[in-house]
Amino acid sequence: MNVGRVAGKVAIVTGAASGLGAATASMLAREGATVIVADINKTNGARVAARIVEAGHRAEFVEHDAGDEVSWQKLIQHVEKKYLHLDILVNNAGIMVAKSLADTSLEDFRRVSRVNVDGVFLGTKYAVDLMVRTAVPGTAPRGSIVNMSSFLGSYTMPNTTAYCASKGAVRILSKSVAVECGAKRYQIRVNSVHPGITRTEGAEALMPEESWQPGSSLMPSFPLRDYGRPDDVANAVLYLASDEARLVTGTELFVDGGWSMI
Ligand SMILES: NC(=O)c1ccc[n+]([C@@H]2O[C@H](COP(=O)([O-])OP(=O)(O)OC[C@H]3O[C@@H](n4cnc5c(N)ncnc54)[C@H](O)[C@@H]3O)[C@@H](O)[C@H]2O)c1
Repeated sequence: MNVGRVAGKVAIVTGAASGLGAATASMLAREGATVIVADINKTNGARVAARIVEAGHRAEFVEHDAGDEVSWQKLIQHVEKKYLHLDILVNNAGIMVAKSLADTSLEDFRRVSRVNVDGVFLGTKYAVDLMVRTAVPGTAPRGSIVNMSSFLGSYTMPNTTAYCASKGAVRILSKSVAVECGAKRYQIRVNSVHPGITRTEGAEALMPEESWQPGSSLMPSFPLRDYGRPDDVANAVLYLASDEARLVTGTELFVDGGWSMI
């Protein structure tokens, strides 16, 4: 029996081998979607997909480089051939370079942009195209695209130039496509999610262990005084991906303990 908040839907989650992507893929699958776990990391990606299947849900791993156009073409062709359509795309894959402006090389800047901006642009472009081509005749194309930005897509801190530039691009790219889809009378919704610092493999590599402890002097004094857990963000993605958010497009959903207010 296929029950859940995204029951029967087909979803791609990029960067799903780790952290927020893995949590999102698992949650969408638990809520009834068939999930394509896409990632550049074969070992971890295959493990995430296997775990979902062992739990009795639907998933498969597809090796995928989010910054590469041919890789997107292959992924979308695969989904079209096997599932005939796509309902949900979560453009989650992302990397961070934490360096001062002086230390950030043009190569660093382009490396971050390649995954964080090119990846979201390409994914959005090819997903909208598939949603339009496979729409039920006589009905408007439908679907939900959720792009992973960051609280650093709207606010900022030192040593984040390349990352902030990329996440700011994700924020406004999402709104631009949301407006364009609306102008074409598509029922394709495009939203961005803006996590604060959330404990994932990627974030642990950037922050020392002591900074994660409650009461740590590094813990910022934002309203809820806690860092995120991957499921906090996955829950936000699930909402935007589901039909519960049928009237929500072009929005920015912050999951940051209120950090962005101060
Ligand atoms: N964790 C946080 O504090 C935080 C806060 C705000 C935003 N984000 C954003 O959330 C997303 C996920 O972050 P995370 O903390 O889970 O990171 P993570 O490093 O734990 O996981 C990122 C995943 O992306 C994959 N990936 C990297 N380059 C790729 C590529 N070219 N193609 C396909 N996959 C690729 C990695 O293999 C990895 O599995 C990123 O976009 C990140 O910028 C994270």
